[in-house]
Amino acid sequence: MQRERCGELRPNAVGKRVTLAGWVQAVRDFGSLTFVDLRDASGIVQLVFRGVPEARALGREDVIRVTGTVVRRENPNPNLPTGEVEVAVERLEVLAKSKPLPFLPDEEVKASEETRLRYRFLDLRRPRMQRNLLLRHKVCLAIRQYLDAHGFIEVETPMLTRSTPEGARDFLVPSRLEPGKFYALPQSPQLFKQILVCSGVEKYFQIVRCFRDEDLRADRQPEFTQLDMELAFLEDPEELFPLLEGLVAHVFRTTIGVEIETPFPRLPYAEAMARYGTDKPDLRFAMAIVELSPVFAQAGFQVFEAAVRAGGVVRGLPVPGGANLSRAELGRLEEAAKRAGLGGLLWLKVAEGLQSPLGKHVPEGVLQEAAARAGLNPGDLLLLAAGPEKAVAQALGELRLRLARERGLIPPNRWAFAWIVDFPLFKLSEEGRIESEHHPFTSPKEEDLPLLESDPLRVRAKCYDLVLNGVELASGSIRIHRRDLQERVFQILGIGPEEAERRFGFFLRALEYGAPPHGGIAFGLDRWVMMLAGENSIREVIAFPKTATGACPLTGAPAEVEEEQLRELHIRVARE
Ligand code: AMO
Repeated sequence: MQRERCGELRPNAVGKRVTLAGWVQAVRDFGSLTFVDLRDASGIVQLVFRGVPEARALGREDVIRVTGTVVRRENPNPNLPTGEVEVAVERLEVLAKSKPLPFLPDEEVKASEETRLRYRFLDLRRPRMQRNLLLRHKVCLAIRQYLDAHGFIEVETPMLTRSTPEGARDFLVPSRLEPGKFYALPQSPQLFKQILVCSGVEKYFQIVRCFRDEDLRADRQPEFTQLDMELAFLEDPEELFPLLEGLVAHVFRTTIGVEIETPFPRLPYAEAMARYGTDKPDLRFAMAIVELSPVFAQAGFQVFEAAVRAGGVVRGLPVPGGANLSRAELGRLEEAAKRAGLGGLLWLKVAEGLQSPLGKHVPEGVLQEAAARAGLNPGDLLLLAAGPEKAVAQALGELRLRLARERGLIPPNRWAFAWIVDFPLFKLSEEGRIESEHHPFTSPKEEDLPLLESDPLRVRAKCYDLVLNGVELASGSIRIHRRDLQERVFQILGIGPEEAERRFGFFLRALEYGAPPHGGIAFGLDRWVMMLAGENSIREVIAFPKTATGACPLTGAPAEVEEEQLRELHIRVARE
């Protein structure tokens, strides 16, 4: 008999003979009467066994098949979609017994992450994980529908390839046939998608795995998935944004039924850094940082004056309703500011007039001016910090997030998108070397081209990030499509002609035979699904993720291999 789905039985099936199969969710034994909750992918239904001794021996997660008749329940369970019916079982087959479980695959699981990942096949049985897998599938489906309808085609690119510089370490794969040579797993399909555009594929996309050997965080994995896109004849990001906004809105609508407001605001990088202290601001709440250097540059408070004289800044972070923060709490915030690299943290409260430890150093009018610029209302607090611009921005940015979380200032169910634009093309590494802010294939803005060699750090790029609720969801750019400009950029990055030819010759050649202007973007698919699912870690939306140390507790990877395999690969492991 055909198998029915447990979660779909309703009163209209009463009287019907059905066959069901699934996992035992619960057993309630009353001697001659045994109730079993049976679960399959569609949900749970109650089985009732009358005088079936084998039913009493069933245990959690055993797999069974039953045949019986759907009947109306004497005591309906309003919490269960199938709660008005049960199946009176006539025939029971035990298909597989389960060993005692390391943890119960229930909605809230208490096991450690290590245990959950080792027994991932149990962990994934939890309804929440099943929902996440289904959601991920729906997101991919919605993406493919939308992009197909807009003329994109999905093209696969190699996994065994050469290094693509995206700022992380490569995973390497040794070649057996060419001793001493290695493939790199792609950090992204960046160069292949550009070559595809040069090959006449005008609208490319791919849902693709990328590999980066970097330190892991809640929103990073060594292998993760991108929705990668590239378009020929794209010269202005503004031509791309409406298409992508439509894509995002389509995915939100079809997967979680949420209408997203478009267009998304555009926020220049410099403004994001000044107002929110980060290039991925959480815009669900205001609390914008305010510039107060002009107010304090000559106000009489030495620490602030010295900071401004040294080329630094004085900035304030308004905290709505923050005047009730205790001295101890302010002390904790100051400690956090010091950990973030600041000398200290001062404050100004609007409570029965203006209160501030600065009161004895500067005239009242100065404090009033600061409060006015920050738009303080009675009951508000202003945190004040001075120092080098980068450190102040970053520290106040971190405090902004922390205070908003702690004080419940982040409204729920808000989706705050923004395009961050006008990034610098380069940045200085910690060692003082010039590096790409995004990657070396990003086009400079035409109007900044004259500065390329003379003042590279002031050159702005034609690149853009999409930020959602403080998470970088996607990143892209208009690319360089001429070899001469690409070589100039390599030169500034310290990649001379020989090295450029050796590492990127294959790509530079593609730019020499009629390369159309082009550009694109890549979304972090795991992050996107994570946010749609309301999860805090991308590990919750990846079927088989790695732990923070890059291990897979399920398979035990990474693992040692046979000596013979190493010999074939011409590899000897140096053990320190
Ligand atoms: P980028 O390196 O910014 O750009 O990556 C694009 C997006 O991928 C996501 N992401 C990650 N997600 C999980 N784990 C990781 N380790 C990880 N690293 C990145 C982020 C990020 O915004 N080739 C360019 C794109 C382009 O220019 O078209 C690129 O890869 O959400």
